[in-house]
Amino acid sequence: MTEKIIILDFGSQLTQLIGRRLREINVYCEIYPFNKIPVLDDSVKGVILSGSPFSVRDPKAPKPDLDSIKGKYPMMCVCYGAQYIAHTYGGEVNPSLAREYGRAMLTVTKKDSLLFKGVPEVSQVWMSHGDTIASLPQGAEVIASTDDVVNAAYAIEKENIYCVQFHPEVVHSEFGAAMLSNFALGICGCRGDWTADSFIDSSIAHIRETVGDDHVILGLSGGVDSTVAAVLLNRAIGSNLTCIFVDNGLLRKDEFSSVLASYKDMGLNVIGVEAADRFMKVLDGLGDPEAKRKAIGKTFIDVFDSEAKKIKNASWLAQGTIYPDVIESVSVNGPSSTIKSHHNVGGLPKEMNLKIIEPLRTLFKDEVRRVGRALGIKNSLISRHPFPGPGLGIRVLGEVTAEKLEILRNADAIYIDMLRNTPAPEGWKPASGASATGGTESGEGYLTLYDCIWQAGAILPPVKSVGVMGDERTYEYTVALRAVVSTDGMTADWVHLPYEFLAKVSNEIINKVKGVNRVCYDISSKPPATIEWE
Ligand code: XMP
Repeated sequence: MTEKIIILDFGSQLTQLIGRRLREINVYCEIYPFNKIPVLDDSVKGVILSGSPFSVRDPKAPKPDLDSIKGKYPMMCVCYGAQYIAHTYGGEVNPSLAREYGRAMLTVTKKDSLLFKGVPEVSQVWMSHGDTIASLPQGAEVIASTDDVVNAAYAIEKENIYCVQFHPEVVHSEFGAAMLSNFALGICGCRGDWTADSFIDSSIAHIRETVGDDHVILGLSGGVDSTVAAVLLNRAIGSNLTCIFVDNGLLRKDEFSSVLASYKDMGLNVIGVEAADRFMKVLDGLGDPEAKRKAIGKTFIDVFDSEAKKIKNASWLAQGTIYPDVIESVSVNGPSSTIKSHHNVGGLPKEMNLKIIEPLRTLFKDEVRRVGRALGIKNSLISRHPFPGPGLGIRVLGEVTAEKLEILRNADAIYIDMLRNTPAPEGWKPASGASATGGTESGEGYLTLYDCIWQAGAILPPVKSVGVMGDERTYEYTVALRAVVSTDGMTADWVHLPYEFLAKVSNEIINKVKGVNRVCYDISSKPPATIEWE
């Protein structure tokens, strides 16, 4: 049984970060909204209460019943969590008088506390709260203080409860990761053996147990998530998995043939469906972005559905859903929970009557990549940038025609190839989970610009402008280039690509792509812009 830590989310922006820190030390964890505490079984080794934008004194503040947890499981309570324990069990929480935001120096007052093993007597922590704990709950003792906050950390040792008013999960808390590790590995006694390999072993066992001898179908997109899901399922059930990869005519240059070939090389049982004409037909005359998205989505479902019906005995549909898509985030405006909508799921017809299996639904994106590498998937597939489901259909702005798609495909191929072949300047870092792909397939080459970018692509606005080539006046399209860094696509910043690179890529595109006489670079971040233009 995979042992785990449960994190109860009180609505802090930082809750996912607590999860990341635990997984970095190979401890598996799950995040739940405070009002949906799961039934806790033997696999649960401890519980963490997160921070919150609320004050415990607010009548609308989250106030879960902790009877099934307190005294029964080790607890670590962060910021609001620490205040909630104090407020609920006999202590006192008041508005703070001194400044309790930002960096502070923490002095450990109980040197043999298990929470502070290996933590220096004085170290930097990061505070962010408007309330402070004026008196401790029953049975508690102070274990660390700052200049302004006496009860910066306290413990109820006989119940294995450790509370900190600062945020150990942020990097500004110098030894925060050590404290989380002391809690998980020391106090909770987790083994810390949750690795990509152990994930693969337990997933394979779980998939076999769940689907038995049934047949599973999976829609491949060429992206990292569906590819990793397919290879994992293939390991588990072999030929009982059929994958469907649809050419919607909106893929990038040579993408259908090259990705299909790599899938076949990996031993996947994959059906490539050439359906470009059907997509072009439904897009004919459509200019509105949402109308285009809907038309593409519906056609995809129709094509997928008719292919799926040809597969006898299919009773499961596998999807490459990942953890950020399924975490329910606590709404700051009330106790109700909202689920982030997911671009790729939903929309499949109910009458398909298939049960859903999502083998990656507990993994973050970079963990999916790690699992993919451990499964032996080629680095060029694992390190691919995200690409939207509607493909170039939303990068040709306005009406989509075969001529515009051809122009965009050629410009995009030049841009992406150059990003892949240009070494990154000194000091640049790989995007989350990416590895150095330059000059080799192994992931141990030199770092390229492509590796340091979260997502890049070319866009074709419906704009022609005047230019001059030789002695001729031209009236041709403008291509826009986009490159962003991001962690989850929710916010993004444009990448400061070197001028020399931009100059070179602009020259290449204008010289080689017929129909283009101008190249622009998008210097907008998200918000207020979005990553895609449509
Ligand atoms: P935006 O443009 O909303 O994009 O900033 C955020 C991320 O989502 C991708 N994206 C989509 N993916 N279907 C998808 O599968 C879509 O309709 C879609 N729209 C945007 C986008 O490429 C970026 O990674």
